[in-house]
Amino acid sequence: MRKKIVAGNWKMHKNAAQTSELLSELIAKVPANTTAQVIVAPTFVNLAAAVNQLKGTNISVSAQNVHQTESGAFTGEISADMLTSVGVNTVILGHSERRAIFHESDALIADKVNTALKHDMTVIFCFGEELKDRQSGNHFNIVENQLKDGLFQVDAKSWDKIVLAYEPVWAIGTGETASPEQAQEMHEFIRETILKAYGKEIAENATILYGGSVKPENAKEIFGKPDVDGGLIGGAALKADDFVAIVTAI
Ligand code: G3H
Repeated sequence: MRKKIVAGNWKMHKNAAQTSELLSELIAKVPANTTAQVIVAPTFVNLAAAVNQLKGTNISVSAQNVHQTESGAFTGEISADMLTSVGVNTVILGHSERRAIFHESDALIADKVNTALKHDMTVIFCFGEELKDRQSGNHFNIVENQLKDGLFQVDAKSWDKIVLAYEPVWAIGTGETASPEQAQEMHEFIRETILKAYGKEIAENATILYGGSVKPENAKEIFGKPDVDGGLIGGAALKADDFVAIVTAI
């Protein structure tokens, strides 16, 4: 059985007090026997406090980014060693906002993936097509190339540290979600693409999350599809009741 995961990407939201408040609510409300592994990704400055607050709970912490090199004169950047030194062992990479706003290329993302894996971190690898790609029917090619150019440099034994998050850019923060059928169609394609590169066992065991306007109202139907193993949640992760409703929809 492959892992089910619901992860909340808090993006640039919540100061220290608000982070602590939301975490307290999640600690109280996420059921102890939840099927999904639950992950939250607050902003960098609140990660260490979040790790401390969540000790002994079934919720773990992820960073939203990491620098590709070990250390050096990179003003404003954060290394993998810094993250693991405060107990953060997961990182979101390749998010469409990092690709579009911060011009992260597939090659840079591949470097970041390699660095994170070298530090034994789990990588939530994000990818997905833009609206123009879907409208032109090029979405499968785009997704295949993002996987090949950003992720498929990793060796087979690293796959227990990889989680995929398919996020069609046109569905992120727009309120417009991919239909459960569109999500399933793409997730099946992603699994086939992994199968061709790494074989059946890795493909079958790969956890593939869907992200893009997942809400309590649509989570159950999306998570009900056979190749959807959970979600990467943005806006709805900022309210405890909504996030918990999504976690329990698995
Ligand atoms: O990382 C999360 C995704 O960007 C989804 O965001 O749920 O607000 O559409 P959203």
